[in-house]
Amino acid sequence: MATPRRSLVALTLFCLIIFSCLEDVTSAGAGRRSQRGRGKGRGRGQVALPATVNFVVVEPDEKIFNIVDFRKAAASAMDDYEAGPGEDDSTPDWKMIILAFKAACQHPGKARLVFPKGQYRTNTLHFMGPCRATRLVFQLFGDLIGPTDMSMLPNPFWINFARLNNVVLLGSGGTIDGQGQGVWKNCLPNGCSALPPCNVKFDYNNNMVIKGIRSINPKAFHFHVHSCNNMRFENLFLGAPDWSPNTDGIHTSNTTFVRISHSTIATGDDCISLGHGSVEFDISDITCGPGHGISIGSLGKDGRPNRREKSVRGIRVKRILFRGTDNGIRIKTYPKPIPNQVHDVYFEDIAMENVKNPIIFDQEYSTKNARTSSHVKISDIHVRNIRGTSARPIAVNVKCSKTFPCEGLDFFNIDLRYIGTKPAQITSSCINARPSYGGIQRPAPCRPLYT
Ligand SMILES: *[C@@H]1O[C@H](CO)[C@@H](O)[C@H](O)[C@H]1NC(C)=O
Repeated sequence: MATPRRSLVALTLFCLIIFSCLEDVTSAGAGRRSQRGRGKGRGRGQVALPATVNFVVVEPDEKIFNIVDFRKAAASAMDDYEAGPGEDDSTPDWKMIILAFKAACQHPGKARLVFPKGQYRTNTLHFMGPCRATRLVFQLFGDLIGPTDMSMLPNPFWINFARLNNVVLLGSGGTIDGQGQGVWKNCLPNGCSALPPCNVKFDYNNNMVIKGIRSINPKAFHFHVHSCNNMRFENLFLGAPDWSPNTDGIHTSNTTFVRISHSTIATGDDCISLGHGSVEFDISDITCGPGHGISIGSLGKDGRPNRREKSVRGIRVKRILFRGTDNGIRIKTYPKPIPNQVHDVYFEDIAMENVKNPIIFDQEYSTKNARTSSHVKISDIHVRNIRGTSARPIAVNVKCSKTFPCEGLDFFNIDLRYIGTKPAQITSSCINARPSYGGIQRPAPCRPLYT
């Protein structure tokens, strides 16, 4: 029996723990970690767009650029614009949008580029900085509709935001529709030889907020984020049929300080996939499904010396609902001798509903009878408070590398139930890994096997 004093101490401790958790939830991940001295600082001198501003309310010092006001100007030539590949000035909507963007971009203050209700059909769209605008909000009341003709998209994207600072992409009812249906059919059943263009690619941007956007039916990824820093994605809806190939929701590479929250992703491939060089991510409050879950990887694929992969680290994934997905949480690396690392990763407070592979770390990704093993070292991975149902008997499947066994895997409170049709027990499997366990363990802890 605890004495009153002891229980007071326990209560105080409990409150402290709760408090520190709450602080984790309410403060921006990036800021919190910088305080700990681990972050390298975001944006190098850039001030992040404040989390408290909703960007819907037009501020008094903001100048509005309505794209349809540029329709007349778009009827005449654009002499001083050097069109890039795929930029096709025969489409009137494209010219109007680019002229309006140029004007907003050059405004020496806060600017807002408004797309009124309606449908805008364009081929390749490049929004390229640097801009003079101190803050630029793209506000989509209307829909952007992509081309079905692939020859109009010679780049890896349909829409591109590049080299921009302090930009907000705000959905106010508008949809970004990639019209990918025709392309998927050509890619099936074996995937595409080259990845088709994504709906939106973000390159070399700093301090961006992507909020309230609906993206549907991309030809491949919905969003591809590359070489960016301090990006915030929230209140998104990303939709494509479960059979559509390569339609990842958000794929990132070489990108730091990202928050993805309060979004629904229902798509044909990974809801979120973190490629090489994804560092300091907070992913929370996401509903994923259909789709292939939330993945780290795939890593260790491309061995060309000028493409050296960077590590994936500082990843927090929490409060996720996976609904009918192929995987829940996943780490995937190819069994190739390409060095890399994944470490400092937390998967917490996750609900699984009828998920085929709720927890899967696969270092022989996409390879049968591999003769080599992965040189990606996986360590310091924390999996906590995972509950729900598995569609297959092996609910926890850890297949690590023979040359670089996983280290520092810790499983705490795993409570999964098998609901598949064949009579079987729920199980776990570990190859080249010896996890540590705490709390509830359903399935029972695995028996490690080293190969
Ligand atoms: C990765 O991102 C950094 C920072 O944006 C950039 O300087 C570097 O060139 C990028 N590397 C690649 C391979 O894109």
